[in-house]
Amino acid sequence: MSQKVRFKISRFNPEKDKKSYFKEYELAVQPWESVLESLISLRNNVDASLSFRQSCKAGICGSCAIRINGRAKLACKTSVHDEISKFGEIKIEPLGNLPVLKDLVVDMETFYDEMKDTNPWIEAKKNSGKLIEEHRISPKDADKIEKSSECIWCAACFSDCPSRESNKKYLGPAAYVLSHRYIFDVRDGKKKERLKKLVDKQIWACAHCERSTENCPMDIEPQEIISKLREESIKEGLIHNDGARHARTFEKSVKKYGGLSEAWLPVGTFGFIRVIKELPMAIKLFFKGKLPPFFMKKIKNHEEISQLERNVNRNNL
Ligand code: FES
Repeated sequence: MSQKVRFKISRFNPEKDKKSYFKEYELAVQPWESVLESLISLRNNVDASLSFRQSCKAGICGSCAIRINGRAKLACKTSVHDEISKFGEIKIEPLGNLPVLKDLVVDMETFYDEMKDTNPWIEAKKNSGKLIEEHRISPKDADKIEKSSECIWCAACFSDCPSRESNKKYLGPAAYVLSHRYIFDVRDGKKKERLKKLVDKQIWACAHCERSTENCPMDIEPQEIISKLREESIKEGLIHNDGARHARTFEKSVKKYGGLSEAWLPVGTFGFIRVIKELPMAIKLFFKGKLPPFFMKKIKNHEEISQLERNVNRNNL
């Protein structure tokens, strides 16, 4: 049986609107409908001026990604019924972090350019200067890149990424995922160069918010992939940057004391010279009693933490 559902849809026509606004529609919806099916029905039967993208209707092409009730999702894979049960209405907006062209259609050029800038093709290994023309890949090695090969470039992760929002040099989760697919491909010969590029493109600026992992319609877990790439960059010796220094100082502190020495973390990350410039702030913090202690004692049961750390490192080998 159909049900009346309220849709609040962001509208913007660059030819007459200065900024976007929400328009409300009420539509009779079947319980099995996807948000994309409702949008198509709205456009065909109620308002032909509504613009949105779609193609496969099967969660494969990635073109129908939009924000539904505040979260970037594929409209064709999102059930109207589920959204109504959680939110009582359906609020639809275009993807974030990209300029809006019209209504729910965004300009994807920046996103595509940054994806292409990762050199998404295999740069084959050379053997004594000669190109290896055939290089078979074992099922075990193929498994390592299986997930990151499944990205459909929908930009649902990019849309809601707060690190990208605040820092345009940060590539966004999808480009790091795409890089992972080539960095861990045993046939590729440019691992270190690729990792160096990611470090230059701010991979350490990821804020660990997990939004990319929650949004990804392919369950790729971009957050995990970013952590893996950072770890790999350290293994490849790319340690002269704030991110790697921060991670290594953190690790050293946990090894030594069983906890984080907050006072030494900025020193280990930025070095004495840069930290000294923040002296006035440190003095203010000191007088407000907010400066963390410079000398830390080992915590009780420190040996347990050391054992955990050894286990983690062993499992990562
Ligand atoms: Fe292709 Fe939704 S229309 S993924």
